[in-house]
Amino acid sequence: MNMLACILSIALGSLTLVPAWAEEPSITVLVAYHSMGGHTEKMAQGVLEGARGVPGTKVLLKRVGQVTADELFSADALVVGSPVYWANMAGEVKTFFDNWQFKFGVFPDFKMRNKIGAAFATGGQISSGKELTMLTILAAMLGNQMIVVSGGGAFGASATTEGDSPGVDEQELASARELGQRVAEVTMRMKSTPKR
Ligand SMILES: Cc1cc2nc3c(=O)[nH]c(=O)nc-3n(C[C@H](O)[C@H](O)[C@H](O)COP(=O)(O)O)c2cc1C
Repeated sequence: MNMLACILSIALGSLTLVPAWAEEPSITVLVAYHSMGGHTEKMAQGVLEGARGVPGTKVLLKRVGQVTADELFSADALVVGSPVYWANMAGEVKTFFDNWQFKFGVFPDFKMRNKIGAAFATGGQISSGKELTMLTILAAMLGNQMIVVSGGGAFGASATTEGDSPGVDEQELASARELGQRVAEVTMRMKSTPKR
């Protein structure tokens, strides 16, 4: 065997040809949240665990103020969590969304378009704004032409943290994991679908 044939046979022998369609897709789920007392942070950890359990999923956990443009735009899915402040998302979370334009220049080309989005919230009282908070988060995502999904509850995962229901209990944490898992599964499906 001459030298060229020898090199060729070694190179071909170590080559494993995997067609593109047979490759496992890999996705990144970014979980961004605000939390002063730790309750929303605990739910964020639950979302992270749920997403991480889906094979091929990379996860990133950040406070809203610390998310960089690169992290935002390279993620395949974004899950945003907020405490309820006066029946709405916290100002820090609203500023995060506003900064998509002011700092990151999301328009005019809709850089978040077709990414998967979801929401979670914690609130002190049973019926004082958790659903509104999740819906305003989802509305900001819809305005950016993201594809929003629920999980854990009709609008996302939530926990009541004060009064007769102090802290985040196991059932609420399970709903956060459920949300994270669903987000990762739906994102995986989206990424597996051939682009037209
Ligand atoms: C300024 C402020 C406003 C709040 N407004 C509401 C409210 O409208 N409805 C509610 O259920 N809880 C309200 N809460 C309670 C928080 O949403 C709740 O304690 C939450 O779990 C805190 O999350 P954290 O521990 O992640 O900071 C408010 C708390 C603060 C500090």
